[in-house]
Amino acid sequence: MTLNVEIKRYNPEKDDAPHWESYEVPADPLDSALALLLHVKWHIDGTLSLRKSCAHGVCGSDAMQINGENKLACSVLVQDLVDNDGATVKFAPLPAAPVIKDLVIDQSRFFEKYREVKPWLINDNPAPEKERKQSPAEHEIIEEATKCIMCGACTHACPSTWASPDYLGPAAMLKAYRYTFDTRDDGEGERLDTVDSENGLWKCYTIFNCNEACPKDIDITRWLSALKRRSAVTA
Ligand code: FES
Repeated sequence: MTLNVEIKRYNPEKDDAPHWESYEVPADPLDSALALLLHVKWHIDGTLSLRKSCAHGVCGSDAMQINGENKLACSVLVQDLVDNDGATVKFAPLPAAPVIKDLVIDQSRFFEKYREVKPWLINDNPAPEKERKQSPAEHEIIEEATKCIMCGACTHACPSTWASPDYLGPAAMLKAYRYTFDTRDDGEGERLDTVDSENGLWKCYTIFNCNEACPKDIDITRWLSALKRRSAVTA
């Protein structure tokens, strides 16, 4: 089939504002959406800018808006987007972030928020000779949250992020959950101080956009609700 691929293009050195450009791209239903973009870049217009690395849903670098939904371009198939010859597939950068060029957003703010929740194990006790142990049952509490690949699809799908750029967002707060509920961690107090704040947990209105956007099917809203309960109990 041949698809009409529309890409929101923006080159700050030349353009006053982003604009849509269309390309005719040959495609197989089993191609990834990323393959469509790479065809444009390699065969039609080498100036197209996008991020990608692993192409297997691991690195999280190619999160973008595809037909209006935040997805990893490498992890969605053409057949899941369109079913007829000549159909249109639209690509745009993730919303609510400054665009550096074309599909590449500036992630500085996203990672600043991530660092704010101290996404590392806080434990000042001397490390045991081998490792800080955790039972399978203890690990299960945080296991799903450890699957986050920090692609940003969730945070940039959240209306609270769109309305309040300083909102910590689901990705950072999921990381706060992951360490706060880690039985080896002693940083609960300082982490809860960060998330139990004006731009933290209570701006999550359980809209579930984050769950729908997550390419790893993490039940983010559930874990943020657990963090809210922990925060309310310890306040
Ligand atoms: Fe790594 Fe898509 S390129 S997740």
